Amino acid sequence: MSKIIAVAGKGGTGKTTAAALIIRSLLRRGKTPLLAVDADPNANLADSLGIKIEESIGSVLSDFLRDRAALPPGITKQAFLEMKLHQILKEGKDIDMLAMGVPEGPGCYCAANAMLRDYFDSLSKNYPYIVVDNEAGMEHFSRKTAGRIDILIFCSNYSLKGLKTVKILSDMVDELKIAVGAKYLLVNRTPEALEQEFLDRVRDMGMPLLGYTVMDREIEESEIKAVPLMHLPGSSATVQRFEEMVGRILT
Ligand SMILES: Nc1ncnc2c1ncn2[C@@H]1O[C@H](COP(=O)(O)OP(=O)(O)O)[C@@H](O)[C@H]1O
Ligand SMILES: [Mg+2]
Repeated sequence: MSKIIAVAGKGGTGKTTAAALIIRSLLRRGKTPLLAVDADPNANLADSLGIKIEESIGSVLSDFLRDRAALPPGITKQAFLEMKLHQILKEGKDIDMLAMGVPEGPGCYCAANAMLRDYFDSLSKNYPYIVVDNEAGMEHFSRKTAGRIDILIFCSNYSLKGLKTVKILSDMVDELKIAVGAKYLLVNRTPEALEQEFLDRVRDMGMPLLGYTVMDREIEESEIKAVPLMHLPGSSATVQRFEEMVGRILT
């Protein structure tokens, strides 16, 4: 069965960076083929991975609703949608990728979403690891696009406010009764050493601290120069932090 690793958190807390560097570490460990899912409509996981994505699931679902009548004869809706979804799966050497996007235009997406869940279920069997970069609003959680998550990593900035937001998101996930194997906290863009008070609040929260990444000039530069994070040198301090964190979640 595949292991689903999902990254969640408010916008700008380092989710996409984390997803990309987790994927990088999984690839280095030979955990392939790997499925990367960009569930953030402000999609940029593809850029961080250096992958070009032309079409998203959102547009396929919208087209599907609009062209319903044009369903070819002798094919079920489910089979037709699966065929369309399969066409937009971006297949690479080690990484395949899907972007969720957002459905365009009005319509009831309930049936389409149910079919999407079935498609994910069958697709996931092909991959030992699936990494999902979630959107800040967590709509896909409430639509339960993924039936279960093995490892859910909440990103926060280095602030007590950030920790409170993580707590709210984590409670939301509990209320939705999504099956989650383990939850972790990841704090990004911190100073070299974390204040004891901050660590005390983390301990009070009761969510294990997977790790933290220090404010890193190389990451900032990659972003500004639009260089995929896959091209960072292996010696990068942040790359190494993720190596260590991935090592821990895999054990
Ligand atoms: N450890 C870090 N050091 C420096 N900049 C970082 C670090 N982690 C993330 N960033 C930068 O912070 C910004 C937000 O990160 P991003 O991963 O895009 O967040 P999100 O996906 O949660 O919106 C990006 O410009 C990214 O390059
Ligand atoms: Mg992002």
